[in-house]
Amino acid sequence: MANDSTNIKFYKEENIPLELHKVRVVQKLHLVPIERRLEALFEGGFNTFRLNTKDVFLDMLTDSGTNAMSDCQLGAMMMADDAYAGSQSFFRFQKAVEDVLGKKYLLPAHQGRAAENIISHAFIKKGDIIPMNYHFTTSMAHITQHGGKIEELLYDEAYVINSKHPFKGNMNIEKLEDSIKKHGAENIPFIRMEASTNLIGGQPFSIKNLRDVRKIADKYGILLVLDASLLGENAYLVKQREEGFNDKTIAEIILTMTDLSDIIYFSARKLSSSRGGGICTNSEKIYKKLEPLVPLFEGFLTYGGISIREIEAIAVGLYETLDETMISQSPKFIEYLVNSLDKKGVPVVTPPGVLGCHIDAIQICSHISQKEYPAGAFAAAFYLISGVRGMERGSISNQRDEYGNETYADMELLRLAIPRRVFTLSQIKYVEDRLCWLYDNRQLIEGLRFVYEPSVLRFFMGGLEPVSDWPQKLIAKFKKDFGDSL
Ligand SMILES: Cc1ncc(COP(=O)(O)O)c(C=O)c1O
Repeated sequence: MANDSTNIKFYKEENIPLELHKVRVVQKLHLVPIERRLEALFEGGFNTFRLNTKDVFLDMLTDSGTNAMSDCQLGAMMMADDAYAGSQSFFRFQKAVEDVLGKKYLLPAHQGRAAENIISHAFIKKGDIIPMNYHFTTSMAHITQHGGKIEELLYDEAYVINSKHPFKGNMNIEKLEDSIKKHGAENIPFIRMEASTNLIGGQPFSIKNLRDVRKIADKYGILLVLDASLLGENAYLVKQREEGFNDKTIAEIILTMTDLSDIIYFSARKLSSSRGGGICTNSEKIYKKLEPLVPLFEGFLTYGGISIREIEAIAVGLYETLDETMISQSPKFIEYLVNSLDKKGVPVVTPPGVLGCHIDAIQICSHISQKEYPAGAFAAAFYLISGVRGMERGSISNQRDEYGNETYADMELLRLAIPRRVFTLSQIKYVEDRLCWLYDNRQLIEGLRFVYEPSVLRFFMGGLEPVSDWPQKLIAKFKKDFGDSL
């Protein structure tokens, strides 16, 4: 068991995760009637991205830009030095990046995908291959937009939903070397490693694995790019799960990981509970190559399209990432929810990862073919019966191939994000309860079909409709079981 100062034991009560913060600002929530939720689904094309928050009870769409901010972050925002160029706020951000991530050159970008655009623009030429542990939607979109192709090189265990493997985000080292030999190092501008691999259930990689990737990168002279958007949680799970790191601090673990990487980029919406992003490196040559792209795409080099107030919040948030009482909160709630659902037989991705609880719609909706988007249907059904908004992470989130054919996702997941320090345990228990009900009534759910399909990142704004009147049937059963309860 890791040396964990945040594990508070109970005397007679069940050991539940104990909040190590107090709530000082609150926001009223709205749990609207189920009939209104059905209308909202039709208005939003059965796509939870298109719901209006006035119709959403618990917003578990994402942790991006929705983690609770601390008193220190909000206080720092008042210190913002609003200047187009040379702002003191930027230098505080730069210092935080140097202290926390160990990189002295910083290029600000307005969010994670803007960093991906800059890196892709600078390094990718048509036909290049980018090996990675697994793609993220926006990283893949930018790579393919710039003429590159991705290769996902996880071990088979990563795709096993119910697993005990502590590091499902590990890169398959043998496959990585084979890929380099096959395509030639000259056609591989960089290897991409994503911390807490988002789309397979927020699963971490180990430091041993990152060291092995580094060795291969050195052997073939290829750059190693780290997507650090969920680096803090990856570090927390390394401390929990990897031999030799139990007694290390989060700061030491983060620096061990960042030292192994040539270029780091991040979404500050995730990494530092704020809004913004950046790219950092210790190589002056890399910095110089990327530098002209920041004013071109983002803004001047000392703000990069980020509001100066948010820059202050990023700087403070980066230091707070090192605080175990903060960085452990979301993973502990996720672990609680995952383990409770698992015990009740609801298929969830295990071991518990970070970012959210991931429910396996392939098993739950085994009667719905992938052509009719089981994860999208399950996400819509769950919103309908609970008011809780999750996100489809399955084939709708995939993009069509270069010939326009559907590419079905490896996993069909409903992701219920648990942003840091936002929800209470009774709200988590409500989610658990409604999920169990929907699981017991899963046969009532049927599929969806597209009525409006954008060509890029279709999951954001795409519109769908149910293939039958299954939502009305689900409502009838809900009313039978819950009466007039919302
Ligand atoms: C792993 C990962 N990389 C990149 C991004 C893109 O960041 P942003 O949403 O700030 O553009 C995200 C966002 O969720 C992410 O999870």
